[in-house]
Amino acid sequence: AAGKVAARGAFVLFEGADRCGKSTQAMRLVHTLEARGVEAELWRYPDRATAMGKMIDQYLRSKSEMEDGAIHLLFAANRWEKKALMERKLASGVTLVCDRYSYSGCAFTAAKGVDGLDLEWCRAPEVGLPRPDALMYLELSLEDAAKRGGFGEERYETTEMQRAVKASFEAMREDWWDVIDANREPDVIQDEVLRIALSAVEKCRAGRELKRLWQ
Ligand code: TMP
Ligand code: MG
Repeated sequence: AAGKVAARGAFVLFEGADRCGKSTQAMRLVHTLEARGVEAELWRYPDRATAMGKMIDQYLRSKSEMEDGAIHLLFAANRWEKKALMERKLASGVTLVCDRYSYSGCAFTAAKGVDGLDLEWCRAPEVGLPRPDALMYLELSLEDAAKRGGFGEERYETTEMQRAVKASFEAMREDWWDVIDANREPDVIQDEVLRIALSAVEKCRAGRELKRLWQ
């Protein structure tokens, strides 16, 4: 109706190491939500479609080299350039299901173990971005991840790096995260994922405010 303010959408995030199944779960969740009449969109970071995203893509495919600090800031800037759109979508009632975000940003850079680029440094450029209403961290042991077949060709897709990434995610873990055992059938995981997402959607409809990282 005219003048009616739409209830805001929820910002639902999936995080985890490579091959934990988060892209599959995120995609399925969008379809399930839509089927239930919840307007939802799939987002992912990095967004390789923007000018900055293209630089990130080149870096990940080892077509270019960059200083570790510079690529970290570029990943963060790739979120900042989409912040206004993200906020507009949420405010208009769209639920955003996101595949990776600032937590991956920090976990991957910190995992490099570069002097000076610790978690605190990594978080700084992310402070002030929208904070997810739900964060589902898909947890898979390195052994179970290895059973899922070979890595891709991109930078960071090595056993050594993934081990360090897992350690940084664990160091960052906060009480409000939902930790999901990813070593189960996709359907079973989706049931849990849907429950968590619907609960976030409900809270946002009821007026839950959008918070900011890391405040
Ligand atoms: P993708 O495989 O989900 O497209 O992500 C590409 C790689 O980029 C993946 O190895 C995780 C890494 N990454 C970062 O290093 N920093 C970030 O901020 C994000 C979002 C991803
Ligand atoms: Mg990948």
